[in-house]
Amino acid sequence: PTTESNALRTPIVAVLGHVDHGKTTLLDKIRGSAVSEGEAGAITQHIGATAVPLETVSQMAGSLVKPEDFDLPGLLFIDTPGHHSFSTLRSRGGALADIAIVVVDVNDGFQPQTIEALDILKRTGTPFVVAANKIDTTPGWNPNEGSPIQGTYEDQSDNARQRLDQNLYEIIGNLSDEGFSADLYWRVQNFQKNVGVVPLSAMTGEGIPDLLAVLMGLSQRYMKEEMAVDVAGPGAGTVLEVKEERGFGATVDVVLYDGSVREDDTIVVGGVNGPIVTEVRALLQPRPNAEIRTEKRFDKVEEVAAAAGIKIAAPDLDDAMAGAPIRVVRDRSVEAVIEDVESELAEIEVDTEEEGVVVKADTLGSLEAMANALREAEVPILRAEVGDVAPRDVAVASTAREDDHKVILGFNVDVLSNAEDELEKTGDVRLFEDDVIYQLVEEYEEFVAERKR
Ligand code: GTP
Ligand code: MG
Repeated sequence: PTTESNALRTPIVAVLGHVDHGKTTLLDKIRGSAVSEGEAGAITQHIGATAVPLETVSQMAGSLVKPEDFDLPGLLFIDTPGHHSFSTLRSRGGALADIAIVVVDVNDGFQPQTIEALDILKRTGTPFVVAANKIDTTPGWNPNEGSPIQGTYEDQSDNARQRLDQNLYEIIGNLSDEGFSADLYWRVQNFQKNVGVVPLSAMTGEGIPDLLAVLMGLSQRYMKEEMAVDVAGPGAGTVLEVKEERGFGATVDVVLYDGSVREDDTIVVGGVNGPIVTEVRALLQPRPNAEIRTEKRFDKVEEVAAAAGIKIAAPDLDDAMAGAPIRVVRDRSVEAVIEDVESELAEIEVDTEEEGVVVKADTLGSLEAMANALREAEVPILRAEVGDVAPRDVAVASTAREDDHKVILGFNVDVLSNAEDELEKTGDVRLFEDDVIYQLVEEYEEFVAERKR
């Protein structure tokens, strides 16, 4: 992205959907990589970001996306893990993503995380398209690598076509049950009123030209005003992940959704113990079409403009929180920016009580989602924090009055080895761990029920 004031910002596209429905594979096809193959059990553990330039988009989309028709620089794709909540993807005042793709396996249909994704999109008013994925698994399918959907559809037997149609209409019916009026994308006139369903295969690339054309058209037609931000102003972003990087210490992976960030800028980052004020030491940009999560080679750059995925190296980032806001200070007062970050953190803060359980989670968003799930289950919370399970969590949990509350619930976190020692020494604190929120809550509820017996 350039930093000319009249340049349009790259739209941020979140890819959501149930576990294994093909989110990462779809992005792999678009960016020409193989991230999914390298993942443990082919499960995405963290949110990632990939900048795909307009050139790549139009190469993939062939005649469906002509670069001269667009003045958007490309698309910034955000990959999410299907196994946990996407609430980390927030920005100032709402959703981080401008548009979303909800990936649904045509054979598997709607699943719990599909519905969770739709609920979030409904709440945040984010426009989206549905990628009806894995059409190549339709019995009798005759694949046509990379073809637009119309051509390959016509090339199928009546039988295969009918099977696919059946699955597609089921998805359209499910969308309508969730309150969305949807149709196959080529029948949709107004993408703001109706949800377009794009049949595709992340494996063979069939239908991907159509998906890209719909995304580009939607961004260009309906979001041009939102994209016309001042990309030269002081940057605003959301922390995706805090990571140790050789030679840099703790760094943060950030999605910059507004303005720009420069080398030597002072930044304010949401941390476990409040806002962290620090100075940028290095801006590390993944190459185009590279996933920030898995990229090993970064380009050191002087300035980055929104929207972009960027790794920021700076002192004192050890306590930075995934899901927290990050702001560039530049020509404003540090105090005002700190206040800004504080008030945003307060919005996400979890209500705690005098008595209850201890909750630890990997990101601010997942902590919030855990707190919501526990509130629904009427489980009080004594302490809720982002971070690994530490000895003092054990100490705090053991101060709970009721035995049912002498508990630590860890979502997607590690247990520090001295915390394990502490658990053994204390003896009366139970630790529950899981990477699926509702399972973690269920395990705890079963433990309480078991006790009552
Ligand atoms: P999580 O990150 O764990 O939520 O999963 P995901 O949605 O990213 O799914 P992923 O891309 O890892 O794909 C899951 C499995 O489905 C992999 O084995 C893929 O090879 C396979 N798969 C994805 N898309 C397609 C497709 O279009 N056709 C076929 N046949 N297989 C696919
Ligand atoms: Mg994935």
